Amino acid sequence: MKDNTKLLHGYTVLDEYTGAASVPIYQTSTFNNSELYCAQQKHLYTRFSNPTTDALEDGFRCLENAAYAVSFASGMGAISNVLMLLNAGDHVIFPKEVYGGTCQFATTILPKYQIKTSFVDLANVEEVATAIQPNTRMIYMETPSNPLLKVCDIKALVSLANQKGIMTVADNTFMTSLFQDCLALGVDIVVESVTKFINGHSDVVAGLAATNNEDYYHQLKLFQKNFGAILGVEDAWLILRGMKTMGIRVDHAVKNAQTLAEFLEHHPKIKHVYYPGLTSHPNHDIHMMQAKNGGAVLSFELGSKEDLLTFTKRIQIPILAVSLGGVESILSHPATMSHACLTPEERVEQGVVDGLLRLSCGIENIEDLLADFEQALNF
Ligand SMILES: Cc1ncc(COP(=O)(O)O)c(C=O)c1O
Repeated sequence: MKDNTKLLHGYTVLDEYTGAASVPIYQTSTFNNSELYCAQQKHLYTRFSNPTTDALEDGFRCLENAAYAVSFASGMGAISNVLMLLNAGDHVIFPKEVYGGTCQFATTILPKYQIKTSFVDLANVEEVATAIQPNTRMIYMETPSNPLLKVCDIKALVSLANQKGIMTVADNTFMTSLFQDCLALGVDIVVESVTKFINGHSDVVAGLAATNNEDYYHQLKLFQKNFGAILGVEDAWLILRGMKTMGIRVDHAVKNAQTLAEFLEHHPKIKHVYYPGLTSHPNHDIHMMQAKNGGAVLSFELGSKEDLLTFTKRIQIPILAVSLGGVESILSHPATMSHACLTPEERVEQGVVDGLLRLSCGIENIEDLLADFEQALNF
């Protein structure tokens, strides 16, 4: 099945009890036991399973082309649960410019469990090879990275990890599996902030982890139940609805991003554009080998803080907010938003300068977006 058909028909889209065309919100914490010692009883308690969240996890499994998928109450819920697969004494390699929340988890929570970390330039496979220690158990990727859209070579890192028996994890929030199928590229576990393109309407916070490895799946299901960071049934339903239009939403958003990136690249007020869909991106070729397009997110740098403040006052259409992946265009200021939890020194080291803005393209008409950017930069 092709993507749009799959998103409408490839998983539990009908209610198995009534045939309703939309799986209902099973708003219940518990389920009546019609009989004791009954192996047929499918659901016991909503923290363990619920028909609405089961349908969603089936949808995630289908979306990710995975054997198994687990839902969480946020992208960070998925990421932290996956990192809990590590044991005391293990070592994990992260990209230097990993998402701020993941970075904070790695630097403040993992040390409490004697889990060691290294932050390296994942785009440099030799640097990764050098960082591997006898106790390295995980290589964690994020490609393209947030917010500088750095690209790492997924297949090369998987091959390096496989030679040493190291597990690989990829945060695929920016591309989604529709445009970059990390499991097919050999990654062991994919995590995504469902808050972003999958739900797509800026009205839910959620996360997923998907894998073809049965053992990881059972461990993650146990964590989901025991840490208890389950997704609420109303949110699960909203995501089920949002997912149906994901294919056409993201296709449109990517076209807008490519056009805007090309426009901004030639604008005299813009110092630099970061977008893997541009041939000027240093790893454009690697990106286009592992992904179908440049994605719907780009970043650009204005010349000064004054220019940044003027531009953000003048721009009309995108909302100025944290997050990405909504149907509306979203402009973010990484230095004061997603990367605010880093120290100023860590931000400078990562290249997250004050003049940097990240744009998540929505599905507005491109003529209106271009006109808005043109007038906002005309000062
Ligand atoms: C790349 C990436 N991963 C993970 C997250 C965390 O997701 P959530 O906010 O759903 O916990 C974000 C949030 O912005 C993100 O951009």
